Amino acid sequence: MAHLFRAKITGTGFYVPERVVPNSELQLHINTTDEWIQERTGIKERRFFEEGTDTVSKMGARASKIALEKAGLEAKDIDMVLFATLSPDYYFPGSGVVMLRELGLAEIPALDIRMQCSGFVYGLSVADQYIRTGMYKKILVVGGEIQSNIFELSDRGRTMAVIFGDGAGAVVVEATDADDENVILSTHLHSDGRFAEELMQQHPSSNKKVRLTSEMLDNGDLLPYMNGQLVFKHAVKRFPEAIKEALDKNNYTIDDLDLLIPHQANIRIAEYVQQSMGLPAEKVYNNIHKYGNTTAASIPIALSEAIDMGKAKKGDLVCMAAFGSGFTWASALVKWAY
Ligand code: UT7
Repeated sequence: MAHLFRAKITGTGFYVPERVVPNSELQLHINTTDEWIQERTGIKERRFFEEGTDTVSKMGARASKIALEKAGLEAKDIDMVLFATLSPDYYFPGSGVVMLRELGLAEIPALDIRMQCSGFVYGLSVADQYIRTGMYKKILVVGGEIQSNIFELSDRGRTMAVIFGDGAGAVVVEATDADDENVILSTHLHSDGRFAEELMQQHPSSNKKVRLTSEMLDNGDLLPYMNGQLVFKHAVKRFPEAIKEALDKNNYTIDDLDLLIPHQANIRIAEYVQQSMGLPAEKVYNNIHKYGNTTAASIPIALSEAIDMGKAKKGDLVCMAAFGSGFTWASALVKWAY
């Protein structure tokens, strides 16, 4: 059956906390160096939230307001919110409903997405499907994270503490006619739970009779864990697969691609993907040096910044690709709409 509607991105926005944390500041607490962090990850600085000023839902609302303004819409025009995060304001309810309240909205659906670094692309996929079926016409897809308080600025927390940062990004996805060419062409979602424990935060866990004990605090059991080398190995395999899958599905080749927005995991991963796929460096947008890895927020932040910088114009072929905890990986191929 031919779809009556297609979905297009009509606005982007992002917000990052004001507090800039350079590598030199981390060096005061962790046995690491600016050189190591830059060489192994590409990161020079990241943003850390300000308690009282920044919450995940507030940052999401700020990013959304910018995206709405670019789309020429007001918050009340939105039919649904999809909120991707691994660091919601509360254990429950999800941040989508809290962000709706921030935007002065109620009654419309809000769906939180827990797919970590792939969460935003999963969200785009859900938005695309709801719009294609005609169920909703205007959807906000948001990725937001506060991670600086999940990690510990200490030697035992160093693997993750040097990499991750805080921020939020948002896009407006709107229905358009079936014959519009500048749309979300396709999305591709994957997961493999065999690797669930290779990048995780285990506690507090519903599997335990007592979810939280002082021992867990003392042992560092509340800190997230990442098997960095294994994650790296899978990432450099899955990113190209997901990008190729999106291009193949739409009968394009890598030469047709105008802009790749990879999840900002590590500059070495992005460079490997770029080189192994034969993409010119200027077709890949990276901003990990400024914001670190902001998990579900990284793609919408990078996309918004790239669009603000004029890196894509109407009709350009833009691919977003993600890999992360789960493992999960995903891609979205879009003909840019404005
Ligand atoms: O967004 C979700 C997906 N996440 C990712 O894609 C992350 C993928 N993994 C990575 O990006 C990298 O594995 C890391 C950046 C996490 C680590 O880089 P690496 O090149 O794999 O380092 P390594 O774990 O192999 O460690 C190399 C050395 C070790 O020292 P020795 O044994 O060679 O003496 C580590 O102890 O670097 C040491 N090291 C550090 N040194 C200074 C590890 N972390 C640090 C640190 N500062 N923060």
